[in-house]
Amino acid sequence: MLKAKFLTLCASTLFISASAQTPKLGVDPIEKVINAMTLDEKLNVLIGSAGNVKSDATATIGSSAELVPGAAGQLNAIPRLGIPTTVVADGPAGLRIKPTREGTSKTFYCTHFPIETVMSSTWNVDLVGQIGAAMGDEVKHYGVDVLLAPATNIHRNPLNGRNFEYYSEDPLLSGKICAAMVNGVQSNGVGTSLKHFALNNQETNRTSNNVIGTPRTFREIYLKPFEIVVKEAQPWTVMTSYNKVNGTMTSERSDLITEILRHEWGFKGMVMTDWYGGQHATLQMEAGNDLLMPGKLSQREELKKAVLNGHLSMEIIDRNVKHILEYILKTPRFKGYVADNNPDLKAHAVVTRNAALEGMVLLKNLKNTLPIKSNVKNVAVFGRTSYDFIAGGTGSGDVNHAYVVSLIDGLKNAGFNIDNSLKSSYEAYIPEATAKMPKSTSQFAAFLPKHLIPEMDLSNVNMQKVAKDNDVAIITIGKTSGEFADRYISDNFNLTAAEKKMISDVCTSFHKVGKKVVVILNVCGVVETKSWIDAPDAVITAWLPGQEGGNSVSDILVGKESPSGRLPMTWPVSYNDVPSKADFPTPDDISDDQLTEALKGFADVRTEGSRKNFDYTEYNEGVYVGYRYYTTKNVPVSYPFGYGLSYTNFKYGKPSVTTDTKGDITVKVEVKNTGKVAGKEVVQTYVSAPGKDMDKPVRELKAFAKTRKLNPGESEMITMTIPYESLASFNETASQWQVEGGQYTVMVAKNAADMKPLTSTVNIEGKVTETVRPSLLPEQK
Ligand code: BGC
Repeated sequence: MLKAKFLTLCASTLFISASAQTPKLGVDPIEKVINAMTLDEKLNVLIGSAGNVKSDATATIGSSAELVPGAAGQLNAIPRLGIPTTVVADGPAGLRIKPTREGTSKTFYCTHFPIETVMSSTWNVDLVGQIGAAMGDEVKHYGVDVLLAPATNIHRNPLNGRNFEYYSEDPLLSGKICAAMVNGVQSNGVGTSLKHFALNNQETNRTSNNVIGTPRTFREIYLKPFEIVVKEAQPWTVMTSYNKVNGTMTSERSDLITEILRHEWGFKGMVMTDWYGGQHATLQMEAGNDLLMPGKLSQREELKKAVLNGHLSMEIIDRNVKHILEYILKTPRFKGYVADNNPDLKAHAVVTRNAALEGMVLLKNLKNTLPIKSNVKNVAVFGRTSYDFIAGGTGSGDVNHAYVVSLIDGLKNAGFNIDNSLKSSYEAYIPEATAKMPKSTSQFAAFLPKHLIPEMDLSNVNMQKVAKDNDVAIITIGKTSGEFADRYISDNFNLTAAEKKMISDVCTSFHKVGKKVVVILNVCGVVETKSWIDAPDAVITAWLPGQEGGNSVSDILVGKESPSGRLPMTWPVSYNDVPSKADFPTPDDISDDQLTEALKGFADVRTEGSRKNFDYTEYNEGVYVGYRYYTTKNVPVSYPFGYGLSYTNFKYGKPSVTTDTKGDITVKVEVKNTGKVAGKEVVQTYVSAPGKDMDKPVRELKAFAKTRKLNPGESEMITMTIPYESLASFNETASQWQVEGGQYTVMVAKNAADMKPLTSTVNIEGKVTETVRPSLLPEQK
């Protein structure tokens, strides 16, 4: 008896001392947990797993069982230390997971929200915060810990295949909208991954391309949105990009991820690679890229060898492990949250419908063609994407949605009658034409840029009859793009000859009988308009508006709301006018073989060479990106940055512009709805610096705001603040942010090219606002 008691005592003492020796995350200090880890366990934290894809990383010692099918990756568990597996999944237009699972008839669809370009077109930070909150709610309900979004690279060139996943050509608009998105998603207690840090502005050869430019260009234009987001929203994680910057992979640049991101901006989270990004795991660890995703056995071997040889210090390993454990502590999975897989998809459908509506931009509205009058009932609908509406782009920015409301269905829901014979012709044509599209034999066929099916030949359609039978014609022009490839100029940036002929033929027939034609641009980005836009009566840019697209467009057509979207990028007259045209790949001129070679970079075969715009891309236009170029060099554009029409009119009072003792500028302006219907107005404030000691664009957006919905006759006083530091430019010689002293012109304008802005001047004292370590300099050979 006594012996038994003695044994129990020993066992419990042993148990206590064993548990005292095995610290647990969340119970013991992180340092203690790290000290208790073996090297293999540390590597298991630093290297993730693909989860859903069979990869060599699943041979690691952690638990890689797939937790959420279709998620892009997982972080490995170490159960003995209380470290759970956590899950990360794309992306910017909504959560991307597999919609069906074995063994259950339940579905796991996610809401396809509008693309990021739609969000920035709203210029409405509160609304974008609400989209983020709804998106983050799905992330949480489906058991994902981090959404691999948002992405805030700059629209440097309209051909970038991933511009749809990005916000704008302007750093302030990109940064503010993106910060609202991060705050919205993270308000659910889940994380975001701000990506792709940085300068990932082309898809062609993205895993090897070397971006060559100056620190000033990088800091003022391309890093600025990331800086704003880090400072205003602290994303849980940041994802480094695939490309090199001045000779070195971004994930291997400590000046970018440790010096600038952490030390200068105060980033507190974890840094991860893009999928299979970077070349040398050791250099990535040293640079401060904490987590390698989705992880490869070769990286584990490289790191282990480097530590055992003394080439990689344990301090670095521990520093990075610490960042990852700090992230894990915040996750729903660590906190024991059990996903119910039941988000309120119906409520989110309403969010996406209204958000897309607010991001649409009315380009043209001759004689108040829109909103469509109540006696208009019969509609002839042209264009293949009217029947096969494009909700979003392709690649990791896509979403597995349950449905997409086509334009046809949206119009029917709004009470219109659709011309049925035209509808039948299109419905027969689309599958036939799709089957006839040439197939590429490349092993990466799915990732090569795509030509869309040609527009249907209308010569068999009795246009006279269609024009007689219907009250109005609606034509949709569709263009999509996606990850891995940039856009063709020939049939993606430019409209094809068949599309232009369709617009012109429909306009001729309908105008002949006094009926109007409306064009809907269901497009991933900028398209050429000059050559065809004179013909139709009204044009709306609907972008890729998410799963409720057809309803959102119909809402605008019938005037449920007045359009209040504004372009977040310039629409040049022609691609030839784009400032970076000589320094950007033109997919039309690149063979499939060359693109296939570049795609192997994803499988770790990097291209090498000195091919311009392929192996390297020079940012010769400097800070003169988008409207900064067109306005400074007086190049006419089709539609300027910030442009958009409304169904109502707004009158601005005289702005009051004042400065305080810190040098911050406050702009106050009264905005009055002087039209006949309710609407919202976007108020844009540009600043023109003296430009004497520094080379400055003639106008830069420094503040913006959106009014609430104003009824006819109603006014709102808008207040905007321009922080003193935001006037600074980067002086590379001194490695300083400097505000130039002198007289600044503050302009409240309708858009970047508004020739009659409301101007005031203020005197600003010059000062150095920050001195930083020289970074992002060209590679030292
Ligand atoms: C993309 C990322 C994405 C990741 C995971 C990469 O190909 O560049 O944006 O988050 O895949 O799907």
